[in-house]
Amino acid sequence: MSKTRSATEGQEEQETTQPRVRVPRHVAIIMDGNGRWAQQRGLPRAEGHIRGQDALRATLRAAAELGIEYLTVYAFSTENWARPQQEVEALMELLISAIHSETPELMSQGVRLRAIGDLSRLPERARQSLYECIERTKDNKQITLVLALSYSSRDELTRATRRIAGAIHRGELQETDITEELITSYLDTADLPDPDLLIRTGGEERISNYLLWQAAYSELFFSPVYWPDFGKAPLEAALEAYASRERRFGKTSEQIQLED
Ligand code: FPP
Repeated sequence: MSKTRSATEGQEEQETTQPRVRVPRHVAIIMDGNGRWAQQRGLPRAEGHIRGQDALRATLRAAAELGIEYLTVYAFSTENWARPQQEVEALMELLISAIHSETPELMSQGVRLRAIGDLSRLPERARQSLYECIERTKDNKQITLVLALSYSSRDELTRATRRIAGAIHRGELQETDITEELITSYLDTADLPDPDLLIRTGGEERISNYLLWQAAYSELFFSPVYWPDFGKAPLEAALEAYASRERRFGKTSEQIQLED
């Protein structure tokens, strides 16, 4: 019988004689399909993003209930800055209003908010709202919601590399100090576990510059559902697929079974 974490036991790791559903500790999501959802209904793209906020609330609630500890969502990529200015502004306004309107819900659900990405590029008002919410929710324990904002993996690795080079230049680090662990510690996600499961909604099967270093061993799940229609049931479908997979991390099946 394998050691598993059950959906109801949350953060407790328990040895059990009952087969239980294996719940990923960290789920990362590429929330795709807002624009297509809106276009299909003859609505402006911004409406898809507004409905995307409802989907995020439902998914976060379900994730907390199921015992997931970290949920990292791709809310705005570095590449998204190149979208039409009107859409970028609508997304920034949505971010600010969502932070204000959702903070009571985050508090009541025990959600700790975090953010990754080049936050210096966000408009001042958005950054301010974000920092206030991060501060207010910092002691919450049920689940951590990580917003990837103005984020791309290559940009994150570039920023990390510059900081490592700076530390070497100042004599604080030696070239031989550069290890996988050191690089990890310079990333925006330094204190977060790697995602166990990476979900992309909206039917396309790409990683799109998301958590490339961190997702080296993540299970991938591509859902045809457009993000505004995502929520508890599609999340459960992804978790079911995850539970049926064997994660070998480069080892053999026999080795993994012996470890369990
Ligand atoms: C991708 O869909 C989605 C985004 C670029 C924005 C994600 C934002 C939300 C889900 C809003 C709620 C989140 C917060 C933090 C307020 P797309 O526009 O690329 O869709 P398409 O591929 O169908 O065009």
